[in-house]
Amino acid sequence: MKLLSLAPAFLLAALPSVHSWGGLGHETVAYVAANFVHSDTKAYFQNLLGDNSDDYLAAVATWADSFRYSHEGRFSAPLHFIDAEDDPPNSCSVKFDRDCGDSGCVVSAIKNYTSQLLDPSLDKDSRNTAAKFIIQFVGDIHQPLHAENVDRGGNSIHVLFGRAHTNLHHVWDTSIPEKIVGGYALADAKKWAASLTTEIQSGSYRSVARQWLAGMDLNDPVSTTLTWATESNAIVCSTVMPDGIEGVENQDLSGDYYDAAVPVVEQQVARGGYRLAHWLDLVATGATGFNTEL
Ligand SMILES: *[C@@H]1O[C@H](CO)[C@@H](O)[C@H](O)[C@H]1NC(C)=O
Repeated sequence: MKLLSLAPAFLLAALPSVHSWGGLGHETVAYVAANFVHSDTKAYFQNLLGDNSDDYLAAVATWADSFRYSHEGRFSAPLHFIDAEDDPPNSCSVKFDRDCGDSGCVVSAIKNYTSQLLDPSLDKDSRNTAAKFIIQFVGDIHQPLHAENVDRGGNSIHVLFGRAHTNLHHVWDTSIPEKIVGGYALADAKKWAASLTTEIQSGSYRSVARQWLAGMDLNDPVSTTLTWATESNAIVCSTVMPDGIEGVENQDLSGDYYDAAVPVVEQQVARGGYRLAHWLDLVATGATGFNTEL
C-alpha cells in the first residue's frame, strides 16, 4: 500500500486501477462487525469460514478483491460498485434501473449472495464464498466513490496526496484511511475498529447508530442496500467533489480536503461495520427483532 502510494504515475497506470476501500478500510469494517455480532452469529460464521480466531471476518475482508483479478473471478469485478449516472456536485442520486447495469452491481450482488447464504440446499463451499463476498461488498457500498460513475468512480481523476501522484478513488480507498491510522497492518485495522466501536457504544455515534439500522430488511436486500448506496453517493456531492472535478483535479488533497474528509470516512467505516454486524445477525439467527441495545 505504501509502495503503491509512492509509485510514480506511470507505474500506477500499469496497475489494476479499480480498488475498493484498501485493505485497512475493509478489515476495519470487518473488525467493527465482529465487535457487534451476536455470539451465535460469531459461531455460525467461524464455522462457515473455518476460522475460530477473532480475525475470522477481517481475514477474508479483501478476498473478493484478489478474486476479481483471477480468470474465474473476472465476472465479479462490476459487483464491487454501483455506477450512479448522476451529475455531481449539482445533483446526486442512485437509481437501481438506471445504474445497476447488465453485469450486476453491488446492490444486486448483496441480494444474490445473501440468498445463497440463506439457501440450506447449497453446499458449504458456495456458502463460504457467498459470505466472503458479502463481507467485502457491505464495505464497498460505504465508500462514496463505489456509488458514483463520474470518471470511473474517480479513478481517472489525477490528484496529489502530499508528494504522491495518485487518483481521487485511491485517495478515498486508501490514502485518507492510512493517514488517519498511521499504518495499514491488520493490527492497525483492529485498533481503529476498537476506537470506532467505542464511539458507537458510548461516544459521538451513540445517539445515531440505531438510525443506521433503519429500514434494514433481510427480505428486501435491494431497498436496504439502495438506502446505503444513496447515502454514500450523497457524500460525493457534499464532500468528495463539492466544487466539481475542477476542485480536486491536480490538487494536493492531504491538507484542508483531508481534514474535511476524515469525519466522513470514519463515519462510513463505522456505519459499514455496524450494519454488516446486523446483516450477519439476520442471516445467522433469522432474528428480525434483534437486540440493538448498545
Ligand atoms: C449470483 O451468483 C452466482 C455465483 O457467483 C453467479 O454465477 C450469478 O451470475 C449471480 N447472479 C446474479 C443475478 O447476480
